Amino acid sequence: MFIRNAWYIAAWAHEVGDKPLGRRICDEPVVLFRDRAGKIGALIDKCCHRGTPLAIGKVVEQGLECGYHGLIFDATGKCVVIPGQDHIPEKAFVRSYPIVEKDECAWIWMGDPARADPALIIDYPWHNDHKKWPHKHALYHIEGSAMLMIDNLMDLTHLGYVHGSTIGGNPAAHVDAKMETTRNENGLRYVRWMLNSVPPPTYSKAVGFTGRVDRWQDFEFKAPSSIIQWSGALEVGKGAQESETREGGFSLRILHSLTPETETTCHYFWSTANGYRQDDPAATEQLYSEIAAAFLEDQAVVAAQQRRLSELGDADVVDIVSDAARIHMRRVMDRLAAQDRSPAQHAAE
Ligand code: FES
Ligand SMILES: [Fe+2]
Repeated sequence: MFIRNAWYIAAWAHEVGDKPLGRRICDEPVVLFRDRAGKIGALIDKCCHRGTPLAIGKVVEQGLECGYHGLIFDATGKCVVIPGQDHIPEKAFVRSYPIVEKDECAWIWMGDPARADPALIIDYPWHNDHKKWPHKHALYHIEGSAMLMIDNLMDLTHLGYVHGSTIGGNPAAHVDAKMETTRNENGLRYVRWMLNSVPPPTYSKAVGFTGRVDRWQDFEFKAPSSIIQWSGALEVGKGAQESETREGGFSLRILHSLTPETETTCHYFWSTANGYRQDDPAATEQLYSEIAAAFLEDQAVVAAQQRRLSELGDADVVDIVSDAARIHMRRVMDRLAAQDRSPAQHAAE
């Protein structure tokens, strides 16, 4: 079951170029392409002539050309060329999906097009600030559901266990972290403070911390797919908790966005932004590769978890204290899923 009436990242904007890109989203085959005017189109990946995937075609002057008999579709899905005939039948079109390019992402709406309001797309302005937040984009394929990946990001007590050698550091620091949570209708925000703690290896490597630090992790979940993260540390005594900008130590931003591929797999879009040595491309690169290594650890643990849950179900799993944020997230998701299924709700909105 997917929440379809929502915006998901279909691709990083830079992935959509002059070659069609096929991607399964909410278990539907979608093809993305950029027309010659620079506009992104998102169509169902099935030609209306003989059903061939359009992703094996090519982008031409008038739109996307099917690789079998050359029908051409524009970004709205309308067939605009049929080789060898002038008349284009009315039924010659393919389904198109609302798609919006914003903050270096291509956002797709898989539900009712009439409800696709671009104002509902989250803001991620740091992607547009290359000077203050130099960053890199990545995409991991996860052999686990989007929900399990969001669970993972809602319970950071896993850091000390899954990521001990990378971003995690000491497990006790995570379990004892002070957590402030604010809940709202469409998500939640939590800030974890690990005061007077030993910095993890990644942080020390990045800015050369020698002593203890006040470390924060600020996570904002925006249903149904995105988590906006701001993490960092300042040396103890530098006023991390009082400062708004928390400059002068280590600071990074990560966008995590999970797009369902199937019920048990997802696309994990993430970007890392360097907010501590902005003029040093090697630092941006190093941050990215450290995080890339850490997220491979999540990829492995969530895939293993999905395999077991697919085999044995989740009816008997138990919640513990550290699941509080995750439980609120699941409530928000359940409500959205119920609204998504209810036509009466649509009419009432
Ligand atoms: S199947 Fe696409 S043109 Fe024939
Ligand atoms: Fe993780």
